[in-house]
Amino acid sequence: MGKVKIGLLGMGTVGSGIWNILKTNRDEILRNCGYEVEVSRILVQNLNRKRDVDAPADLYTDDFQDILEDDEIEIVVEVMGGIEPAREYILRAMEANKHVVSANKALIASHGKEIFEKAKSKNVMFLYEASVAGGIPVLSTIRESLAGNKVEEVMGIVNGTTNYILTKMAKDGVDFDSVLKEAQDKGYAELDPTADVEGYDAAHKLTILGSLSFGANIDFSSVYREGIINITPTDIEYAKELGYAIKLLAIGKDRGGDIEMRVHPTFIPLDHPLASVGDVFNAVFLKGNAVGDLMFYGRGAGDMPTGSAVVGDIMDIVKNKDNIYYASNSVDEKTVKPMEETVCKYYIRIMVKDKPGVLGKIASKFGESNVSLSSVIQKGRKTPTVSLVFITHNSKEGNIRKAMNNILSIDEVVEIANLIRVENGVDE
Ligand SMILES: NC(=O)c1ccc[n+]([C@@H]2O[C@H](COP(=O)([O-])OP(=O)(O)OC[C@H]3O[C@@H](n4cnc5c(N)ncnc54)[C@H](OP(=O)(O)O)[C@@H]3O)[C@@H](O)[C@H]2O)c1
Repeated sequence: MGKVKIGLLGMGTVGSGIWNILKTNRDEILRNCGYEVEVSRILVQNLNRKRDVDAPADLYTDDFQDILEDDEIEIVVEVMGGIEPAREYILRAMEANKHVVSANKALIASHGKEIFEKAKSKNVMFLYEASVAGGIPVLSTIRESLAGNKVEEVMGIVNGTTNYILTKMAKDGVDFDSVLKEAQDKGYAELDPTADVEGYDAAHKLTILGSLSFGANIDFSSVYREGIINITPTDIEYAKELGYAIKLLAIGKDRGGDIEMRVHPTFIPLDHPLASVGDVFNAVFLKGNAVGDLMFYGRGAGDMPTGSAVVGDIMDIVKNKDNIYYASNSVDEKTVKPMEETVCKYYIRIMVKDKPGVLGKIASKFGESNVSLSSVIQKGRKTPTVSLVFITHNSKEGNIRKAMNNILSIDEVVEIANLIRVENGVDE
């Protein structure tokens, strides 16, 4: 029986999960890959921190050199997070002919190309399953089981924090700020929630998912991103009334020509499989030209689900280390369509002074910008300001923006209270 030694960079949430899985599932791991997998060194920042795992004290180090110079360590597992020094450590580990596993979506989304190229040049493997949707094995499925497909569309709920917030807002009718506070108290949201609620985390994951799905080098900066901070209980109520749920979706589409890559709150029909994905759960909906529709559902974060994906990658390397393969199929430089060029339906809520003729004025501004309307709802009669809600037919984002500017010039219009994109609407 052989033994493979790994160096763990980080012993936080994910590191602890990996340690516990390697220990608890020792027999299954041995049976499935034919090797004993042993963590032989652990890099942390603070050697004095009290930890919940039972790893022996002499495994810990705060000097990366101890892992780099240990020739018995064949695989380095980066679960420390951040860009630097994680990027530097990964590149140096590869330079030292070590295979690498990482869960670091922010790093892979922004420096993936450099890391993949280094892995290829050094003939080592780089796997990163846990970087998208935590425990859900979506990347390896796309890479292996779906390799004979052209992936045309991926749509994912890939951030558990925002899904929890939106689910709670919809269930209890409460506003964003109070649910965020509760999520922070429960540990579902960070004290600085920007990465989650502004959509950066979902955009990092979409960059990775889209690159793999569409075989393209996608630049993170070209992904359109909008968070959930402007979603109100009023919008959620309208969504329900119209037969939709509001979800933060990471959407990638490759239908020939330029690809679409966008993260934004989205109206999704209540009978769409993604609409019923609640709380902190993640799901990825995928359309392949051979397989058709598929959906993956599970936990997108947490020590054990994320650890499960990392350990799966470690075992994949153990099984393939003598006959390695490259886990990036990002070969083409595909261009991401500018947001102004994308076409979808829109929900638009406009606050107006309740004066005769205002609806007609707004409708003609939509018409002048080539936006046709599918439905209109007016509520709040007998109040000085009323809500007008419009659902458009498929329209170009550029035309919608033009219409919004023109509508704001109407005297009776107080504000554009919200604009939310609609996917897979009834008349599509
Ligand atoms: N948490 C999840 O559910 C989840 C899910 C999917 C992906 N991920 C990704 O997995 C990675 C790790 O996340 P996490 O939640 O486990 O983070 P975490 O709990 O904050 O743990 C980070 C660990 O890395 C160590 N570390 C950080 N910077 C270091 C440095 N400069 N030198 C040495 N050690 C350093 C820390 O050491 P100390 O303990 O001494 O501070 C800590 O042990 C991130 O890239 C994250 O995006 C996490």
